[in-house]
Amino acid sequence: MPPSSEFGRDEAARKQAVSPADGYPALAGREVVLGVAGGVAAYKAAMLASLLVKQSVGVTAVLTDAATAFVGEATFAALTSRPVASRLFDPGRHPLGGHIELAAGADLVVVAPATADFLAKAAHGVADDLLTTLLLAAECPVILAPAMNAAMWAKPAVQRNVRQLVEDGLGIIEPVSGWLACRREGAGRMAEPEAIASEIARVLAGGELPKPGVS
Ligand SMILES: Cc1cc2nc3c(=O)[nH]c(=O)nc-3n(C[C@H](O)[C@H](O)[C@H](O)COP(=O)(O)O)c2cc1C
Repeated sequence: MPPSSEFGRDEAARKQAVSPADGYPALAGREVVLGVAGGVAAYKAAMLASLLVKQSVGVTAVLTDAATAFVGEATFAALTSRPVASRLFDPGRHPLGGHIELAAGADLVVVAPATADFLAKAAHGVADDLLTTLLLAAECPVILAPAMNAAMWAKPAVQRNVRQLVEDGLGIIEPVSGWLACRREGAGRMAEPEAIASEIARVLAGGELPKPGVS
């Protein structure tokens, strides 16, 4: 889908900067909304933004309030060379609502990290901020990359929400086992940015959405 005019100004420069032959051809020139929820792994979302931009993807970052406690908007604005969207009500910039305008321009929405809170809201259709509302407005493929403490990830409520989201047709990139910010080893560490980028490329090339235990 074409980018909105506000974000399309450096399209030609991005396409020239990286040849599709350098990476994933399915990514070049595509539009991705990168949702970032409030977990420690938000810093890895900055790396994902950078990786995608290097592959000539147009990236618009949408941060939850909690995400801004971990990584500042300035980081994502600089990496994507676009304004960051974080407010649901922003009539000067998005008269139709950012959730409508950004969803309409997206080829794919990825939320990385997806917090336990975000998974719960998404599984129940809650729409109380820009990112959750945008998710409901999206008609393109959606991929979530959960990240949290191992005890949180193991909770029945979280696993129930993940199953619901898979049943609802969303892609899930399962977290991996490894060193967690809570200073213990366990399952809950967000997949690495490279792995998420390659799942995005696969889906944009027409592949199936990733599922827990499959991706
Ligand atoms: C230091 C710190 C680290 C956190 N890390 C995570 C995390 O990795 N995953 C998670 O699901 N929640 C984490 N949380 C809790 C979320 O920030 C909290 O649930 C918040 O409401 C999420 O909001 P959001 O889903 O709108 O971004 C953390 C909180 C703090 C204070």
